[in-house]
Amino acid sequence: MNAFEELESNVRYYCRRWPAVFATASGSTITDEDGVEYLDFFAGAGALSYGHNNPLFVDLAIEHLRSGRLLHSLDTFTAEKRDFLETIERNILAPRQLDMVVQTVGPTGATAVEAALQLAQRLTGHRAVVGFEGGYHGMSYRAASISASMAGRETSAHLKDFVALPYVKHVTDADVALLEQTLRTPVNGQAIGVVIIEPTQGEGGARAFDPAYLSAVRRITRELGILVIADEIQAGVGRTGPFFSFEGSQLDPDIICVSKSISGLGLPMAINLVRRDLDTWNPGEFTGTFRGNNLAFATSAAMMNAYWSDSTLEKDTEQHGLTVRAALEAMADAFGAGRFDVRGNGLLCGLDVRDTELAAAISRHAFERRLIVETCGAGDTIVKILAPLVIEPGQLDDGLNRLASSVEQATAAR
Ligand SMILES: Cc1ncc(COP(=O)(O)O)c(C=O)c1O
Repeated sequence: MNAFEELESNVRYYCRRWPAVFATASGSTITDEDGVEYLDFFAGAGALSYGHNNPLFVDLAIEHLRSGRLLHSLDTFTAEKRDFLETIERNILAPRQLDMVVQTVGPTGATAVEAALQLAQRLTGHRAVVGFEGGYHGMSYRAASISASMAGRETSAHLKDFVALPYVKHVTDADVALLEQTLRTPVNGQAIGVVIIEPTQGEGGARAFDPAYLSAVRRITRELGILVIADEIQAGVGRTGPFFSFEGSQLDPDIICVSKSISGLGLPMAINLVRRDLDTWNPGEFTGTFRGNNLAFATSAAMMNAYWSDSTLEKDTEQHGLTVRAALEAMADAFGAGRFDVRGNGLLCGLDVRDTELAAAISRHAFERRLIVETCGAGDTIVKILAPLVIEPGQLDDGLNRLASSVEQATAAR
C-alpha cells in the first residue's frame, strides 16, 4: 500500500512536486529515506530561515523537553514567555524605535492576519480593506478573501468589502493618485478602515514595493485615519536582510504580523506586534488554544539572541542576495532571450520566466539535480529562491549552479 496515495487527501501538494520520503535534515540540506541528499532552496516556505535543526536551538529544545517545564500554557505567564517578550523588546523593537506590544495568537500566519483585521476594524469602525494584487495572507475565510491572487481567492467565498491595488515597483504620481482615490472611496458602502500590505510579496512573486510607495501609503492613510497592517509573515525575521522587510521606508505600520521563522526552529508560532496606543483589545476578546508554545518561545528568544544582537546576519543575507541576483541575471541573459525578469531582495528572490510550464519544468529538473526550489506568482511563472539565511556560501553557489543547469535544460527543451 502507498500510504500517501491511499490515505492522504487529494489536497496534498508539495509532495507531488518533490516525491521523496524525507527523513532527516541539517542546515540547508534534507536527506530522504534512501539516503539521497537535497539542497533546500525552499526552507519550509520561509519557516526555516535559520536552517533545519539548527544546533543552537535543538539542544535548547531537548533540554526544555527533559526539564519538565511547561510546553503548553495558553496565555498564562511563564518564564519562557517573559524571556521571549523581553528579548523581542530588547533586540528587535527598541532598536527600531517601535513602541509596540506583543499579541500571541494561534500558531498560523492566517490567524495573525485575522486578529490584525479584527482589531483594525474595531479601532476604525470601518469594514473595508485595501490590499494588493499578488498579496497572500493565508487560507482562513477572511485572509483568503483579501489574498488578491492565488488559489485561496479562487476557491473561497469572498468578502465583498475588499479592493486590491496594483503592485508598485517604481512609484509614479499616477500610482499615488490611484492610492489616494481608492482609500477615499467606500467599497459597497463601507469606508476603508485598513490597508494590508506585504512590503515584499512572497507568494505573489518575490516582489519588493518601492519604499517611496510604502511611504506614500503611510502619509495618505495617516491623513485619512486608516490603519496599516504590514504582513511580514514571509518576508520578515530577516528574510530580505533587515528583520522587517519595510525597514528603510517610512511605512511605520500600526500592526505587524509575524510568523513562519519567528520560532527559529520551524515550530508553529505567530504573533502580532501592535502599536501600544492601539492595543484596545478587551481581555479574552481574541483567543486561541495554541497561543502559548513555550518550546517556541524559548527557541525564538535564543534565535533573536544568536542572530539579532548585531548586524552580522543582516549583512550576510544582503550579500547572499547580491550573489543570488547576479546568478539569476546571468541565467536570464544566457537563457531568457530578453524575456526573463529578476526580482527580490536578500534571500527572497525570484526568476520570472513568464511561462507556467517552463517554471514547473525548471523546478522538476532542479529536483532531479537534488535541489528543492518552488514556483510562485500569478500563473506560477516565477522560480523562487528561499534558501535558509544560514546557508554556507559554497552551498549557495552549488545550488545556483544546479539551478542554472536546470534552467538551461528546461529552456533547451522548448
Ligand atoms: C505573507 C504571508 N502571509 C500569511 C501567510 C499565511 O500563513 P499560514 O500558512 O501560516 O497561515 C503566508 C503563508 O505563506 C504568507 O506568506
